[in-house]
Amino acid sequence: MSQQLKLGSLELSSPFILAPMESVSDCAYRRVCWDRGASLTWTEMIRARGLTRNNKSTFDLIDTFDPEVLTGVQLMVANEKELAEALNKLERPTPHFKNIRAIDLNFGCPSPEVIRIGAGPALLKRKGKLETIFKTLSDWKKTTSLPIGAVGVKIRLGLNRLEQDQKVYLPLVELANEHLDYLVIHARHARQGSSEKPTWSAIAEAKARAKIPIIGNGDVVTREDWDRLSRETGADGALIARGAIKSPWVFRGLRGEGSGLPTSEAEIDAAQTQYLALAERYGTKPKFREWHHEGFRRMRARLHGEADQGPALPANEHMQ
Ligand SMILES: Cc1cc2nc3c(=O)[nH]c(=O)nc-3n(C[C@H](O)[C@H](O)[C@H](O)COP(=O)(O)O)c2cc1C
Repeated sequence: MSQQLKLGSLELSSPFILAPMESVSDCAYRRVCWDRGASLTWTEMIRARGLTRNNKSTFDLIDTFDPEVLTGVQLMVANEKELAEALNKLERPTPHFKNIRAIDLNFGCPSPEVIRIGAGPALLKRKGKLETIFKTLSDWKKTTSLPIGAVGVKIRLGLNRLEQDQKVYLPLVELANEHLDYLVIHARHARQGSSEKPTWSAIAEAKARAKIPIIGNGDVVTREDWDRLSRETGADGALIARGAIKSPWVFRGLRGEGSGLPTSEAEIDAAQTQYLALAERYGTKPKFREWHHEGFRRMRARLHGEADQGPALPANEHMQ
């Protein structure tokens, strides 16, 4: 049995959360992961600017159709004005927006396009600006008509090595304590790629100052990883990204229920059939379907001991 976790007023059945992932975390795949033990899920990063400009394709990414799967929307904002306007758009009378249970702000996306507009990790050392953004989010939570249980942010350790060494992430913990319900720490700076080792000790430093739950992120895949993360850092939960691409059963493994990998082709077939039926029902965009088609193919290949071929991750700007 794994312990429970409370974020704001959201009671999670375990500390293991599916990460926001561009081209991966669509409504159908979120359900596949939820049924296999994820306790909270996120949409992919949604650009607040697209919402404020009434961009239809941006609105279409808010695919919170399934009321049974606890789901939050992750936004990328450049400033508090954009955030307030984007949050206001979520109050539209669109039936499935009523299923949005949490809001996360992304201060970790390393895309040059995001950094150029002064958003994402470019904001990490701007404490005054961040405080205004955090406060805008928490004030909105108090008055929104949506059933929002938790608001929080996802950060990296800095824009670059220098900022990490300066520990720009630590003052954010104090701000988060005051305004937010949780803080996710992806324990890499924004110049680091996914193959580089995360600095979990930074999560421990943040945890020592935190009055809200700290969710650790970076290279947590197995139950052993979680035991070590929780022992070394005191993290209250873990956000799982690539592990859930490789195997949606990863959440069962983290809960101590099996290996976290599929054990038969029939199991993979059932998960893929479930995914395809839901993708059909929700009108899921081709970019997600194509990626998961490849993902399930690779799960079968791995089951049969074949070496991985083709790209391990969809082309995206988050993990360069
Ligand atoms: C394909 C892919 C897409 C991603 N998209 C997002 C995103 O939309 N928002 C975000 O905050 N992080 C995004 N990330 C980063 C992950 O959420 C996570 O922080 C990172 O992969 C480290 O976790 P892991 O070691 O479990 O993979 C993405 C990662 C991958 C692999």
